[in-house]
Amino acid sequence: TAQDVTFTIQRSETPKTAEERAAILENPGFGNYFTDHTAVVDYTVGEDGKGTWHDARVEPYGPISLDPAAGVLHYGQEIFEGLKAYRHADGSVWTFRPDANARRLNKSAARLALPQLPEEIFVEAIKRLVSEDAQWVPSGDGEALYLRPFMIATEAFLGVRPAQEVSFRVIASPAGNYFGGELKPVSIWISRQYARAGRGGTGAAKCGGNYAASLIAQMEAEANGCKQVLFLDPFNDNAVEELGGMNVFFVFKDGSLATPALSGTILEGVTRSSIITVAREMGREVTERKITLDEWRDGVASGEIAEVFACGTAAVITPIGLLKDETEHIGSEDAKAGEVTMAIRERLLGIQTGAVEDTHGWLTRL
Ligand code: COI
Repeated sequence: TAQDVTFTIQRSETPKTAEERAAILENPGFGNYFTDHTAVVDYTVGEDGKGTWHDARVEPYGPISLDPAAGVLHYGQEIFEGLKAYRHADGSVWTFRPDANARRLNKSAARLALPQLPEEIFVEAIKRLVSEDAQWVPSGDGEALYLRPFMIATEAFLGVRPAQEVSFRVIASPAGNYFGGELKPVSIWISRQYARAGRGGTGAAKCGGNYAASLIAQMEAEANGCKQVLFLDPFNDNAVEELGGMNVFFVFKDGSLATPALSGTILEGVTRSSIITVAREMGREVTERKITLDEWRDGVASGEIAEVFACGTAAVITPIGLLKDETEHIGSEDAKAGEVTMAIRERLLGIQTGAVEDTHGWLTRL
């Protein structure tokens, strides 16, 4: 059903000044600062049982007023997305594969019993928000405006059932390197005690609960000097799943790549899928398959595995230097970024930032 996607615009009366914005863009880090506006579309199920999206708007960024009984606050009925807006050399602003994020949001929505959001509303919300906040899109190397669409159950009701009132929102945050500072290989901690997902669970959905459940393992990682945690499937030969917030790739000494297959318990990363395409175009073989912790350890020891990297919208492509826990020590903290890793990173970032031709129609002008 066609729905009205006309956004009303209410501009902030207290936007950051040009000086304040410039100071923030000087060193944005990741997720620290937010732009002047937010996009919102509400959803309500009517008497007839039919749901509609309505009141599409861009309004000043600020706190949300929520009923204390809102479903999101009790049962975690929430999903989100991550994508970026990039500034090209000519000053124009583009986003990358928003259709893929819209589709994934709807897959997550189906799993969390949230309503389907028409793809055109998803893309229009991003366009309207970024057109208000275009001056927030940074232009530095590896920098972009990180867009965070999310959907929450707003209905006040404590019975456990899907909410009949929902809100879809987009916020935006200027972003540099996710891990801060210059790009360098990161150390990863193996989570032995905590799993991220189980068969039939929500692992493939991008829901807040998955990330809440990862925090205790992430804290353990940080306490051990690591930047991210690796989740394994202990019921499947310790198969490598993903990191706290990113997918993993292996580069073999013959130049081929492999990444864990989508088993239903890992997130189908847009960056992951783009790397598969781009690496194949660069003449490399890429397989999606099961990779165990044993293969990682033995492969690094024998030289069969030459490079390992993490990827995601936030992480872009980040080399992994060391993988460890109390008993394992795979790779090295002082490893240099791998050549193949960096070549793929440059190619992907090149497409996103306009330096490399976009032969796939992946870019959408904002
Ligand atoms: C992303 O890469 O966009 C993510 O969602 C990962 C993390 C920041 C949650």
